[in-house]
Amino acid sequence: MIGPRTFLEYQNYRYLKVALAIFFLSLAAYVFDDPPGGRSGSSWTGYGLGTIAAAIIFWLMWLGVRKRDYASAGAPLKGWTSAHVYLGTMLIFLVPLHSAFEFGWNVHTLAYVLMLVVCFSGILGVAFYALVPTSITRNRNNITLDAMLERIAEIDAECRMAADGLPDYYAQAVVTSIDETRIGGSVRAQLSGHDPDCGTSLALKSLRMSKIDLAGDAKEQERKLVELIARKELLLKQIRRDVRFKSLLDLWLIVHVPFAFATCAALLVHIFVVFWYH
Ligand code: HEM
Ligand code: HEM
Repeated sequence: MIGPRTFLEYQNYRYLKVALAIFFLSLAAYVFDDPPGGRSGSSWTGYGLGTIAAAIIFWLMWLGVRKRDYASAGAPLKGWTSAHVYLGTMLIFLVPLHSAFEFGWNVHTLAYVLMLVVCFSGILGVAFYALVPTSITRNRNNITLDAMLERIAEIDAECRMAADGLPDYYAQAVVTSIDETRIGGSVRAQLSGHDPDCGTSLALKSLRMSKIDLAGDAKEQERKLVELIARKELLLKQIRRDVRFKSLLDLWLIVHVPFAFATCAALLVHIFVVFWYH
């Protein structure tokens, strides 16, 4: 995910301007049109505005799916997000113009309510991205994460060397640290941000409680080993904290995406019902 500043300001607010233009033209059409049966979703202006709103919704969906094709390229993704956010927010105001501010307990209003959930979850998502420091959003690209994982692999190799020639007790601690350390996992594990059964913490504890008396080089090796495992533990804490932030940051998508599909389903029913019964 790119920083919110870059996509909100994209091309000098191009899509904010586009969204405002569509909205004010629609408002003008709404105000100046005075159909014989009164303003409603079934006047010609109503049909027109409904069609524009539906077209924008399907376009936002289509781009959401397509975006995966060029997810690695920065510029189009930025433009996509910018258009998505501004046009999506504009829909909150466009649909009431379409229905001439009529709402009821029906499938038409259901489509609008579902859409509102999508829009407000989206706004919440953008707010999260804006509030979280860029050091963490940068991590969403996995650059820092990859570097940290690489560092852990290096530490593991150094641990093996440091334990070489020491009693089995030490080799066992290194094996525990390497085999029993997990990063990520289930959504819940990611959100918790720590692992109570972390192999590295267990290894560090057992090394510190060691009753074996070493001397000379072996003593030095032991000191080195404790230092390495302690450094690895610190690194893991940092990684787990970042993973936690990342998954917190994307929590809103759990609402946004399913409700987007539900909106489309309700919208198709709305359009079908309207043409069937009018
Ligand atoms: C091709 C697109 C659309 C067409 C042809 C269309 C057509 C209509 C028509 C004919 C009505 C009047 C129904 C009546 O008076 O009983 C209406 C009302 C309404 N439409 Fe649409 N519409 C479209 C898109 C949308 C979209 C995208 C939404 C929102 C997501 C929406 C939400 C509503 C609502 C809330 C009402 C008012 C229902 C009420 O009076 O209780 N429509 N629409
Ligand atoms: C009816 C309106 C909307 C629809 C149908 C819609 C639909 C979608 C879909 C299908 C995705 C793709 C998610 C994925 O596959 O990763 C998406 C992503 C996104 N939406 Fe919306 N959305 C709407 C409105 C909004 C609004 C109003 C905002 C914010 C103000 C917003 C913000 C976002 C953002 C920031 C993403 C990108 C998430 C990412 O790339 O990490 N959306 N939306």
